[in-house]
Amino acid sequence: MNFLDNLVLPQSSEHIELLHYILMLIMFLFIPFISILFGGTTLSIYYRRKGLNENNPMFIRFAHDIIETLTINKSIGIILGIVPLLTAVLIVAQLLHNTESPAVYYLLTSFILTTISVILIYTYRYSVIFSRLFDNIKNIIPEDDNTSEIIKNYRDGSRALSYRSGRYGLLLLFIALFMFVAGISNTLFPLYSFEVLFRFLQFLTAAFSITGGAIFFSFFYWDGGRKIDDDNYRTFIKKIAVNITFTGTIIQPLFLTYDFIALPSTALSGAVFTCGMIAILLLFVAYHLIYSMIRDANLKMSGPVFYVLIFSMFGVIVKDQLAMGNANKLNSVILNAKYIEYFNEISGANKLAAVVSGEQIYKNICSSCHSFDHKIVGPPYKQTLPKYEGKLDQLVAFIRNPTQNNPGYPPMPNPGLKPNEAQAIAEWLLKTYKTK
Ligand code: HEC
Repeated sequence: MNFLDNLVLPQSSEHIELLHYILMLIMFLFIPFISILFGGTTLSIYYRRKGLNENNPMFIRFAHDIIETLTINKSIGIILGIVPLLTAVLIVAQLLHNTESPAVYYLLTSFILTTISVILIYTYRYSVIFSRLFDNIKNIIPEDDNTSEIIKNYRDGSRALSYRSGRYGLLLLFIALFMFVAGISNTLFPLYSFEVLFRFLQFLTAAFSITGGAIFFSFFYWDGGRKIDDDNYRTFIKKIAVNITFTGTIIQPLFLTYDFIALPSTALSGAVFTCGMIAILLLFVAYHLIYSMIRDANLKMSGPVFYVLIFSMFGVIVKDQLAMGNANKLNSVILNAKYIEYFNEISGANKLAAVVSGEQIYKNICSSCHSFDHKIVGPPYKQTLPKYEGKLDQLVAFIRNPTQNNPGYPPMPNPGLKPNEAQAIAEWLLKTYKTK
């Protein structure tokens, strides 16, 4: 992606680490919000349709209340839905620079689709508010007044708009979320794999349980809860919140456990495991809190349920980010080496930079992972180079585009050398490896 390549610079290891932390913070903002937006819109559209079909005003009331409450307002949509995703695209472009991973394309696609869908969903929200307004006006004006006809037309118009924008917005958001999950999982799993599909399903179930948590929080807890006069309606909302939170919370541990099993060994570490376990434990706590509210027929735990679910979600985010960082570690080494090279060049420390020197490239880049006679990250040259004796071209080809050749080692990331640089380092290695 050329225009993104213009925005990225080689980064030192410290910068790369910092970028990982910033990315994590951005995910803390984006993922809970977009999950609630998705879950809330799905419920609203579903109950609105059901309410209109069955002529049930309570369903319609719920459909309106939920979209109004959970989407908060349009600025929040931009601040939490759109801005973080764009920032994430730029950070991932830095982190995966040089790897030829398509992750950035997926995230960029997700960003574009998310932006359109957020606009459509907020349009849906406004038309829902308008149609509610028209309904109220209609009740005030007597039937035989001819303004009543005009108002009815407006209301129908707004209803049609609301249907379309809501449905299309939701569909686009669904695709956008899939591309998002595929993008942030790309250092671990390819696009078309069961693992990505499972991660997406995990994302959706988490989205529904956090939406349930948000219903508890915003209807029954925040600011003393909404003033709901009608007891039937109250019971109805509670039932929905319990059902979706419960179902989502039960299914998630299965997906999370599967993810542990499926993660490549390069991505695993004690911290990854610990964060995943904390997330699962918190799900059980949430489960328990909901159960206590059903058993005692009250809503006292409405706030805590939401907090626990949010923290469980944070646990999953940290786990995924750490796993991504681990899997990308080798590329980070190369980026760091390139950073040193670049730094030397601009600070004039390397006056001979114009002459491509194999030895210099070895010192700057390869030596972080290779030595001649012992294993570092990659195999020792004395062991691997003899087979390239008299096959300079094959060695150049390997360096420009590494393939997995040595069992027991992780794949070598592409060091991103220009053809003449690869030629120089290959010649230098074959000339000197025996004497080292
Ligand atoms: C980030 C760590 C890392 C860096 C940097 C790195 N390599 Fe490697 N290299 C590896 C690993 C890991 C392997 C083993 C991969 C395999 O063959 O499965 C490897 C394997 C090799 C092999 C053996 C290939 C074979 O066919 O057996 C050669 C030759 C090689 N690297 C050359 C280089 C050169 C030249 C550079 C610098 C331009 C370099 N490497 C930079 C990690 C690295």
